[in-house]
Amino acid sequence: MRLRRKPHIDEKLQSFTDFVTRGEVQPIVKDSSRELHVELGTGKGDFITQIAERNPQINFVGLEVEATCVLAAARKVREKNLGNVRLIVFDVENITEIFSAHEVDRLYINFCDPWPKKRHAKRRLTHARFLELYRKILKPDGEIFFKTDNRGLFDFSLEQFALAGLEVRDVTNDLHAAEPPENIRTEYENKFSAAGVPINFCIARFANG
Ligand SMILES: C[S@@+](CC[C@H](N)C(=O)[O-])C[C@H]1O[C@@H](n2cnc3c(N)ncnc32)[C@H](O)[C@@H]1O
Repeated sequence: MRLRRKPHIDEKLQSFTDFVTRGEVQPIVKDSSRELHVELGTGKGDFITQIAERNPQINFVGLEVEATCVLAAARKVREKNLGNVRLIVFDVENITEIFSAHEVDRLYINFCDPWPKKRHAKRRLTHARFLELYRKILKPDGEIFFKTDNRGLFDFSLEQFALAGLEVRDVTNDLHAAEPPENIRTEYENKFSAAGVPINFCIARFANG
């Protein structure tokens, strides 16, 4: 996916350079005394701002390819005055360029684009091709928290996890049937849930680290 530059958005993002960057991680997250959690495809930031607010002791990075979405998320981070969030206009394809080996404690993949056509399967953020990148940056006991409304994508992802040697736990095809208090709803989660679509969820980790 290409990063499309939009000059008027770039100009607006200039007001947020204390925690928004393009293509580089700001130093605060290189603090090994704190856990580092990374959200892939942050969208407009509902999830990352809520989870960061609840967990001030953890550093969060949101990667999002669309600068307009990053701008919306940045406004929420500023409004909540969160010191533990960094946002990067960034394509997950290049994730190994910004994190060191085994630096990340947790990845969140929330409602990633399903790319329904078979010939586009490699673009899905849970494709084995991406899982190999995640393996490099995740700590040996690091985990991937995955949520989606799309049952086809979910089943595909479980297959990819197994192929790549990940074990899964807490698998459900209806997360909201008994919604855990720690669940934080994303923009898409709210939208699909309101339309009566059940939410699939699981946690995956590499079996041999
Ligand atoms: C369907 S939306 C979900 C947004 C949000 N996570 C939610 O649950 O409401 C998917 C988001 O992922 C972003 N995205 C898709 N592919 C990406 C990639 N390769 N790198 C970074 N962001 C990506 C899109 O721009 C979009 O904002």
